[in-house]
Order: sequence, then structure tokens, then C-alpha cells
Amino acid sequence: MMTSLLTLEKVSSAYGQSKVLWDVDMDIRQGSAVALIGRNGVGKTTLLNTMVGVQKLTGGRIMFEGKDVSAAPAHGRARAGIGYVPQGRHVFPQLTVMENLTVGLAALSGRKGLAQSGISEFIFDLFPKLTQIRARKAGLLSGGEQQQLAIGRALAGQPKLLLLDEPTEGIQPSVVKQIERALERIRVELGVTILIVEQYLDFAWSFAERYHVMQRGQIIRQGSTREETAAEIAHLVNI
Ligand SMILES: Nc1ncnc2c1ncn2[C@@H]1O[C@H](COP(=O)(O)OP(=O)(O)O)[C@@H](O)[C@H]1O
Ligand SMILES: [Mg+2]
Repeated sequence: MMTSLLTLEKVSSAYGQSKVLWDVDMDIRQGSAVALIGRNGVGKTTLLNTMVGVQKLTGGRIMFEGKDVSAAPAHGRARAGIGYVPQGRHVFPQLTVMENLTVGLAALSGRKGLAQSGISEFIFDLFPKLTQIRARKAGLLSGGEQQQLAIGRALAGQPKLLLLDEPTEGIQPSVVKQIERALERIRVELGVTILIVEQYLDFAWSFAERYHVMQRGQIIRQGSTREETAAEIAHLVNI
């Protein structure tokens, strides 16, 4: 029996008077991997920001593990187990790699029943490069290194659900592969449920079992990546 981890019911959001999300319904099952796809400017990032509480709802509600978190602040949702790797990475440039990872531990405070505190060895096993550069300031890292750090920081909070917004955007191809393999391991070995915004449909299809397509702030289509091909959906996403 598959249970819902995150459920959105008629979620709307706006920037001032300008409405950006319209009645978005989404159901993310425990243990699944879901891809959110769509052209630039359709509202994907706004939707993720709304899920984590960075952006306010103007209508609808968000349930996480059966509890209404619509009014919960961002740090409360992080503690509830929603991890976030925002678009453009946003590591703290003046802090070292180790200090950035430590910031991720804040999501653990007040949580019960966790396996351990401190930075998990799994993160360094996943991204061995982070071990080598642990004392370096994050602002000096390459884009790929910063992305590995951003993912590592989110994992330090031991999320149940991990939201990633275009994690391979602007990253060199050799590192893209490493990040894709890391996401597979996070899913399979840690059992983390994953929602990924991804432009690269081939990866979205191999990684996720469900897809959602956004257009102008609405989910216009959703389905199974096992029953439909990326080629059938591409025209809804490509420019
Ligand atoms: N901070 C903001 N203030 C006003 N409008 C914004 C802001 N951020 C995004 N928008 C607008 O909201 C719409 C959706 O943007 P976004 O969620 O970033 O889309 P996507 O992630 O799909 O590219 C766009 O029209 C964008 O211009
Ligand atoms: Mg975006």
C-alpha cells in the first residue's frame, strides 16, 4: 500500500497582485521519485518554494505526512523532514564546506528517533570530493562542487522528502553523471522520496516513475514514465 508523503490541494500563490500558481494538485507517494517539468517561467521554482514555505500560499493547502503544514514556517517544514536544494545552489560563500554541511544539521533539532547526529559518512561516500575540500570556502568552489555541497547540506538534515530544483543546470557533463548517480543512491540506499525539477527529459524518465508538466502555473498533464515515453511529452516542454 503506497501512502502519500506530500499532498497539494488546489495550491495557489502570487507575487503581489500577479498570480503565478493556479489550483495545483499533486500527490507524492512515500518512496517514489517524481519529475516536475516545464518551460522556463511556468512556475516550477515558485511551486517548490511554496512547498517548503519560502513562498506563501494564497489558496489551497499542503499536507505532509497527513498533517496540514500550509501555515508552518520554512524551518518548521525542514524539521518535519522536507529537504530542499534550491535552483542556483545557494551555498554560503564565506563558510567552509564543513561549515555549510553543519548548517544543514539545523533541520535535525527537536526531531526524535534519528539514527545519529553529526554529518553522516554517507555524504562523503556519495561525494568523495567534499572530503578533500572540506576546509575550503564554498564561494571558491566550482559549480559542480557547490551543487554536491548543496545536496550534501540538504542530506545532513536527514530529509524524508528531498526537493531538487534543476540540480544539473549549468554543470559540466562529467559532474552531471556523478550527481545523477548520487540521486539514485539517495533514493535506493537512503529510501528518500524525491521530487526533481529537471530539463533533461532522458534523466527525468530514467529516474522518476511519475511526471508532472507545468504550463502557466498549472499542472496540465501528469502520468507514469513507465507507460508513456519522454518523446510523447517533449512537445509540452521544449521551446
Ligand atoms: N520574486 C519574484 N517576483 C515577481 N515575479 C516573479 C518572482 N519570481 C518569479 N516570478 C515570476 O513568476 C513566474 C514563474 O517563475 P518561476 O517559478 O521562477 O518559473 P520556473 O521555475 O518554471 O522557470 C515567472 O513569470 C516569473 O517571472
Ligand atoms: Mg526555476
